[in-house]
Amino acid sequence: MPPRILVARAVFPEVVARLREHFEVETNDDDTEWPSQELSRRLQGKAGLLCTAGERIDATLLDAHPQLRAVCLMTVGYNNVDVPACTARGVLASNAPGVLTETTADLGFALMMAAARRMAEAEGYLRSGQWTKWRYDLLVGSDVHGATLGILGMGRIGQAIARRGALGFGMKVLYHNRSRLPEADESPLGARFVDKATLLRESDHLVLVLPYSAASHHAVGAAELALMKPTATLTNVARGGIVDDAALAAALRERRIAAAGLDVFENEPQVHPALLELSNVVLLPHIGSATEATRRAMVGCAADNLIAALTGGMPPTPINPEVLAPRD
Ligand code: DGY
Repeated sequence: MPPRILVARAVFPEVVARLREHFEVETNDDDTEWPSQELSRRLQGKAGLLCTAGERIDATLLDAHPQLRAVCLMTVGYNNVDVPACTARGVLASNAPGVLTETTADLGFALMMAAARRMAEAEGYLRSGQWTKWRYDLLVGSDVHGATLGILGMGRIGQAIARRGALGFGMKVLYHNRSRLPEADESPLGARFVDKATLLRESDHLVLVLPYSAASHHAVGAAELALMKPTATLTNVARGGIVDDAALAAALRERRIAAAGLDVFENEPQVHPALLELSNVVLLPHIGSATEATRRAMVGCAADNLIAALTGGMPPTPINPEVLAPRD
């Protein structure tokens, strides 16, 4: 009997067909977001799970399924997975890093530009029939070229956004990160490592690209927003919860910062009602990695990991490779 696996959300049919060459596969063709209990019920007897960053994988779930050998995410973010709990039980966890870096950086940069140049607001103005004439101060925003780009979280995506800013738009790049980059990575971008307060104070356009964890919860709240320039923009393409959405809405409403671009939200897909009322924020439904090619690569990466993990191969992007080490 081939191992049984669960694909927790709808994915490309070709990927399911590939998985069926190796496994007995249960799918979720309706793409229902199963509550934990239902996910657990469906995991009965399954050796592998292919899922997103939306399914909660914690010790309770793992303890209920001692047969589970691998949990493979099609996303790069894995704050929904208790990795130490997986490791302690010998369950391989994997994510999909790398394949979405450039696509997410494209969206992050576009969102930052949209906020700086008031694009969503301008489109709404036109569509609602308010545009009657050219005017010197109509919907004026702030320049992106030559401005100071601040990156909080200088991983792969942060560096890809910094490249766009420095090399394409002549921006001065400041960043703050857990650790400083090697000089060989900093110098082609002219990127300067600064403390978080300096980053907040000096950035014209601040982009958040750090992973979500208890430590990064509300990394940008009222106190941090108070340090920013009143002309600055804030863009978040990382995770909801990194920004205190209520504090951000207040800062935007009171024009303590100029504008924001958000692809992710606390409690998404719910969006804080105060944000929905503001014209100086561009709101997107978590589409950072949403191109056809990238989504195919992300799902393909999860499938590669799952196939390797359950057929004795080497999964390409494990989060806890230590569970693969041969045991004495
Ligand atoms: C990820 O991969 O973590 C993204 O947020 C999903 O697009």
